[in-house]
Amino acid sequence: MNIKKVLAYQVLDSRGRPTVAVTLTLSDGSIHTARVPSGASTGAHEAHELRDVGTGRAETFYGGKSVFSAVANINEIIAPKLIGHSLNPAAIDGILVEADPTPGHQKIGANATLATSLAVAKASAHVSGKSLVRFYQPTGPLLIPMPMINILSGGAHANRSLDIQDVLVIPHAAKNFAEALSWVVAIRERAASDGKSHGITHLVADEGGLGLSFKTTDDACEFVLAQIELLGLSGKVSLALDIASTQFYGDGKYSLTTSGTSYSSDQFVDEMLNLVNTYPISSIEDPFAEDDWAAWTAFTKQAPEKLQILGDDLFTTNLHRLERGIAEVSANAILIKANQNGLVTSTHRVLDHAHANNFATVVSARSGETEDSWLADLAIGWRAGQIKVGSTHGSERTAKWNRLLEIEVSEETEFSKPF
Ligand code: PGA
Ligand code: ZN
Repeated sequence: MNIKKVLAYQVLDSRGRPTVAVTLTLSDGSIHTARVPSGASTGAHEAHELRDVGTGRAETFYGGKSVFSAVANINEIIAPKLIGHSLNPAAIDGILVEADPTPGHQKIGANATLATSLAVAKASAHVSGKSLVRFYQPTGPLLIPMPMINILSGGAHANRSLDIQDVLVIPHAAKNFAEALSWVVAIRERAASDGKSHGITHLVADEGGLGLSFKTTDDACEFVLAQIELLGLSGKVSLALDIASTQFYGDGKYSLTTSGTSYSSDQFVDEMLNLVNTYPISSIEDPFAEDDWAAWTAFTKQAPEKLQILGDDLFTTNLHRLERGIAEVSANAILIKANQNGLVTSTHRVLDHAHANNFATVVSARSGETEDSWLADLAIGWRAGQIKVGSTHGSERTAKWNRLLEIEVSEETEFSKPF
């Protein structure tokens, strides 16, 4: 079986911004489409997301955010190389690298390479007669990842109503994924109504979380813990924080706007230690800025042994940065975002390298998502152990949760228990 047609086009993500879709037609007439996500709090070391601003192709009403150049790169540069080619994801990812050997896919755009790479993965699963998840793990019980689910949003996702980006919950004592999800839905519902009765202005943020205003991270943690307690779930649900600190780091200082305080790197290490020693926090993401390596190592040395220290902007799903983090003991877990990397096979390689070095992995969506649910298949098929998709609101989020629910009832599975 080989590729008969490659068609790229522009579609919208959940924030109403353009993103790239690719539809592959195979010689058996079957059709396979993939759509790529896009971040808001993007790390400087991520693969290059090509947008039209400054290219002369920008569509006025999308304010430079259109992706016609990435689309054209697929239709004009990539498609001619793939038509007639047999379905082999590693070989095709190799062709994509040859077409643009720059680091981070600067020329063609990582949104173009990833859309193509994902469509090829989906088509390859079809050729082997399997679902995408079973393409990666053909036999044996599947590992359903433990979710970390957003309740409160701040930072770049909610107009900076809170300095940190996410207060999430981990339903670590749930017996299966369906139960885990039901607990989190209840917590979010309670938080929404409690927020209103406290007169806190409330908006639904980019990832479906609640954009409630809190002066401090402590206040936000206490608010969510109160909801957990009122539902009788204390000790069964813990907190996870995405500090996304690169967003408020500059000139060697961490500057929080809601409380008006500013910290040196050393002071912020102490501040973060204080936080994780005060509350039942299982996981902390990006407590320090993407290039503040010394702070990461200092924190990891002093943090509680069981704490998950998760690098997102620090690692940007990049093998070299992960290798440095392993060598310097900067963290003990990595967030895996395919569009930070730009190719499916090399994203998978980063995840495998993390596992081989005893790092935990959390496969993650972005703030700009589509209704596509490949993320759930990759998280399970690659045995990630954990998944992060945002909140329980928004069809672009529920598409992934619903796919996990579908796999949990239709396959032999076990529920991951990382905490
Ligand atoms: P982003 O946020 O998709 O806007 O980068 C998600 C995250 O930081 O984990
Ligand atoms: Zn993050």
